[in-house]
Amino acid sequence: MAEPQRPQQEIQSVLTENRVFPPPEEFSRKAHLRSMEDYHRLREEAAKDPQAYWGARAREELYWKEPFQTVLDWKPPHARWFVEGRTNLAYNCLDRHLPKLKDKPAILFEGEPGDRRTVTYGELAAQVNRLANGLKSLGVKKGDRVGIYLPMVPEAAVAMLACARIGAVHSVVFGGFSAEALQDRMNDAGAKVLLTADGGWRKGAVVPLKKNVDAALPNMRTIEKVVVAKRAGDAGTPGPKDVSWEELVKGQSDTCEPEWVESEHPLFILYTSGSTGKPKGVMHTTGGYSVYASLTTRWVFDLKEDDIYWCTADVGWVTGHSYVVYGPLLNGVTSVIYEGAPTQPGPERFWEIIARYKISILYTAPTAIRSFMRLGDEIPRKHDLSSLRLLGSVGEPINPEAWMWYRDVIGGGRCPVVDTWWQTETGGIMISPLPGATPTKPGSATFPLPGIHAEILDREGAPVPKGQGGLLFVTHPWPSMLRTVYGDPDRYVKTYFSELPGKYFTGDGARTDADGYIWLMGRVDDVVNVAGHRLGTAEVESALVAHPRVAEAAVVGRPDELKGTALVAFITLKKGTVPSPELKKELATHVAKEIGAIARPDELRFAEALPKTRSGKIMRRLLRDVASGKQSTGDTSTLEDLNVLATLRQDED
Ligand code: WTA
Repeated sequence: MAEPQRPQQEIQSVLTENRVFPPPEEFSRKAHLRSMEDYHRLREEAAKDPQAYWGARAREELYWKEPFQTVLDWKPPHARWFVEGRTNLAYNCLDRHLPKLKDKPAILFEGEPGDRRTVTYGELAAQVNRLANGLKSLGVKKGDRVGIYLPMVPEAAVAMLACARIGAVHSVVFGGFSAEALQDRMNDAGAKVLLTADGGWRKGAVVPLKKNVDAALPNMRTIEKVVVAKRAGDAGTPGPKDVSWEELVKGQSDTCEPEWVESEHPLFILYTSGSTGKPKGVMHTTGGYSVYASLTTRWVFDLKEDDIYWCTADVGWVTGHSYVVYGPLLNGVTSVIYEGAPTQPGPERFWEIIARYKISILYTAPTAIRSFMRLGDEIPRKHDLSSLRLLGSVGEPINPEAWMWYRDVIGGGRCPVVDTWWQTETGGIMISPLPGATPTKPGSATFPLPGIHAEILDREGAPVPKGQGGLLFVTHPWPSMLRTVYGDPDRYVKTYFSELPGKYFTGDGARTDADGYIWLMGRVDDVVNVAGHRLGTAEVESALVAHPRVAEAAVVGRPDELKGTALVAFITLKKGTVPSPELKKELATHVAKEIGAIARPDELRFAEALPKTRSGKIMRRLLRDVASGKQSTGDTSTLEDLNVLATLRQDED
C-alpha cells in the first residue's frame, strides 16, 4: 500500500483554506438539526449507548412487521443489525406512504430526447407490484439474484423495488459497462433473471443495452430469462430467453403481498472496484441499510415534504441506490430522474431541468461542477435557479475553487453546500456537514455523522496528529456497513479488516485540521476516481494485457483539472510489435470494450520495460510521478533498469 497522497488537488491550496461558512440563519431555523449543540448531543447519545441510539433510529425510520430485540450482534468483523426484525423495503418506500401520498409525484422523469413522465406514489406502487408478480411468474423466489441493466428511466427504480418486494437480491450493472463487464458480474452473482431495455439515450445516441446483453448471453451461465423494456432502440428478433417487459406485467395484479424478510436478508449486491483485477460484489442487507439510507437522506439533505430533490447519479452506482431511489422514497419526497448526458443537447440542460421542476436540492459530483465551471458563469446565470436551497457533492474530493463556484454561481450564495464522503461499502453518507448545523469550509467533508466513528490513524492504529495525513478507518460498526463480499468471505476480512483487526479500513487517506475538520486526501490503494467513477487500475491493466499485442501494462492516475484523476497506461509490447499511434487507439478501444468507456485510458505510453524493484514489483509511485510530469523525488536506486525511466520520459507522442 502506498503512502497517502493527494492526487486530486493541490495540497497547498487546502492547507491554507480558512474560509468558514456558517449555515444561513433562515436555513438553520427550519432545519431538522439546527446547531452544533444538536450535533454534539446526538453524537454523545450515540457514544454513550450505541445500542439504544441505533435502536431508536431504527424504530423511527422504518415500519417493522416483526420488532427486533437485538440491536447489534457484533462479532468482529461480522455485524448483524436489528436481528429478529422483519421488514420490507418496498413496503417502506411505497405502501406506508399511500394513505397520504398516493397522488404525490414519487418520480419526475425526463428522458434525454425531452420526453417527460410523472410517476405518483400510487402509480409507482402499482408498477412495482405488477413487476414483482411478473418476476414471480418467471420463477424468481426470495434470495434469488436478479440483474438490472437499464438506462436511467423510472423502470430502473421499479425493477429495484420489485426485487425488494419479493425478497429477491438485485444487482444493478451500470448501463455504461460493456457486455464483458456485465457477464462477469452476472456470473459472479449467479443471477437468474436479467432486466434490461432495448436501449437508452446518451449524448444523442442509443446505448445498445440489448445488443450487449445478447453478446454476453452465451457466456452468462445462470440467466434463464431476459426481460426487455421498450425505451430507445431496436430489440432485434427476440431470442428464446427474451420476455417483453410490457407483456410480462400486462394482466398482473396491482397488488403483491410483500415478502417480510429478516433484517439481515440480503438486499443487493453491487460490484465495485478494488485493488485487484476482479470487482468485488459488495453485499448489503435489508434492515440496517434501509434505516441508514432513510436517516441520512433526511438529515444531510434536510428533507422537507415539498422538496423536489435531484441526485444526478446513475442507479448503476451506490449513490443512485441510496440517494436516487431508496433514501428519497423512504422519506416520501419527489425524486427527479434524468436519463442522459448533462450537456445534451447543449450546456443549458441541467439548469433548464432545475428551473423546469423547481428543484430545491441538487446532489452531484465535482467533475460535473468543474466542467460547468469551465463553460462559464453566463450559462447557469441565464436560468432561474432560485428554487435551489441546498447543494450536495459526492464521489471525489471537491477542490475549494469548484466548491466556491458551486456555492456562489449555482447556489446564489444562499445555499449550504454539503460535501458528503462515503463509499459503496458504507451504504450511506458517513462524513458530511449537517446543513443547518455545521459551519462549512470549502473542500472539507467536515465531521462524521452522529453515531459514526471515523478516525485517522497510522498503520499501527495510533491517532495521527492534527494536520498530518493518515489512513481513514471506521472503528465501530454502523447499520449500513457491507456484510460481505459476495461469494468471497475471506476477501471481506482481508480487504477491510486486516489493516487493523476489527476496524474498517476505507482505502482513503485523510487528515484533520486545527479545528478537527476532516479533509479527504484520495485513495491510498490502487483505486482511482476518474470523473467521479470508481475504477481499479488493476482492472484496466488486466483488460490491456488481454490484448494479444500487449506484454505488460501498468496503469496509474494522474491529477486532472476536470476529471479529478486521469488514467495513464504504461505498456510494453510483445516482441516484434511496432508501436504506433494506431495501436494506441486500438488499445484504448479495447479497454472500452472490455470494461466500458469510463475506463478508456486518457493517455497511453509505450515503454521498453516497466520500472521494477529488485523483487519484481512495478514501481507505481515512480510511474505516478512520471505520469504527472513531476521530477521523481523517490529513491530509484532499486530500479532494475534506470534507463527505463529515461525512455518513458522521452516518449512524447
Ligand atoms: C471517494 C461513492 C472525497 C473516496 C459514494 C471513496 C470522496 C470513493 C467523496 C468511494 C468525497 C467519495 N470526498 N472523496 N466527498 N465521496 N469519495 O464506492 O475515495 O463509488 O473511497 O462511492 O470515492 O467511491 P464509491
